[in-house]
Amino acid sequence: MKSRFEFVKDALEARQRAEQLRSLNEFEKDSGLINVCGNDYLGLSKHPQVINYSQNYLLKSGAGSTASRLIAGTNRAHIELEKELATWLERESVLLFNSGFQMNSSLIGALADKNTHLYYDKLNHNSLIQGAILSRANLHRYRHCDTDHLSTLIKKYHSAGKHHIIVTESVFSMDGDVPNLSEISNIADEFDAILIVDEAHSVGLWGPGGRGFTFDDSRVDMVLGTFGKAFGSFGAFAACSDQLKTYLVNFCPGFVYTTALPPATIGATLGALKLMPTLDEVRNRVLNLSQKFRTELTQHGFDISGSTSQIIPVVIGSEEKTLELAQKLQNAGFQAYAVRPPTVAAGRSRIRFTITADLTEKHIDQLIAELLTS
Ligand SMILES: Cc1ncc(COP(=O)(O)O)c(C=O)c1O
Repeated sequence: MKSRFEFVKDALEARQRAEQLRSLNEFEKDSGLINVCGNDYLGLSKHPQVINYSQNYLLKSGAGSTASRLIAGTNRAHIELEKELATWLERESVLLFNSGFQMNSSLIGALADKNTHLYYDKLNHNSLIQGAILSRANLHRYRHCDTDHLSTLIKKYHSAGKHHIIVTESVFSMDGDVPNLSEISNIADEFDAILIVDEAHSVGLWGPGGRGFTFDDSRVDMVLGTFGKAFGSFGAFAACSDQLKTYLVNFCPGFVYTTALPPATIGATLGALKLMPTLDEVRNRVLNLSQKFRTELTQHGFDISGSTSQIIPVVIGSEEKTLELAQKLQNAGFQAYAVRPPTVAAGRSRIRFTITADLTEKHIDQLIAELLTS
């Protein structure tokens, strides 16, 4: 008789045969390896003010929020963070979520149903894809960063009585490129579509004072962000109108049915937010270093997949060669990993480098030297 877990065994064996089995490796923060793959772009996860705020909120309010936001989980810290963030982003309202993945996978389902047409960039994050599946909406995926294709699709499916929602990232998480956001805003305007931009990899780092690429664009109906990257903490937010916030509070299961973020996490994020206006010099350093790395890689003929940001993939193609290169970089003291299918398309295996405030020009020179001898 077949075991009831036969399908689990089969799936794992298939992954193993393809040499794509994922496993969890412990990473010692003090391993001595130089981190060139994390998303702590401004180095805030270790900033004394962020840690201090986190400790204070922990001691003041305890380890857990103890309930969902709508029951007894909303305390002054949640309200304070939502208000301060809305003021900083110059948006009417902000709603906190427990993580970017949780927000994206449930928020799309709250806004879309089978009468909705969703228009997604082909490389939108998996969390957004999960949201689309959950919503049962009609999903149209346009070619990566191809606004002509978006336009063609929305013209084709546009009809009265249907909702139309365009969703894109501002900095793509695996390729580090940026779409033509003003063109996407124009298309949203022309077809009266809701426009949602996931700024997970830009808020904190890009735009005026780190307020993202869409800071000045009131045509963007909802800006999504996470605190797990440039803020150095954890959690996520949707910045939108008061009305949309109220709608999500009422209809978004990923907000309603979960325990509120704990005080220490809210504290860390508040500490990071208060630092944001002081960090222009750090941002410039990270962006200049990113540019140096991109320029040198391109000059040496590496495929960086059109990156224009701090996320810089070096696309190798073959999985085996990418794994070998990751090992070589680790032996040389860099914490670098191979990113392979199914995370990226077949034949597009890569090392995904990220530039953070902890890196220096010397690190970039060392990395280039290692890559050139690979
Ligand atoms: C574009 C994008 N959106 C959302 C997320 C999820 O955010 P979080 O890490 O807070 O769950 C990520 C993180 O990998 C991301 O890259």
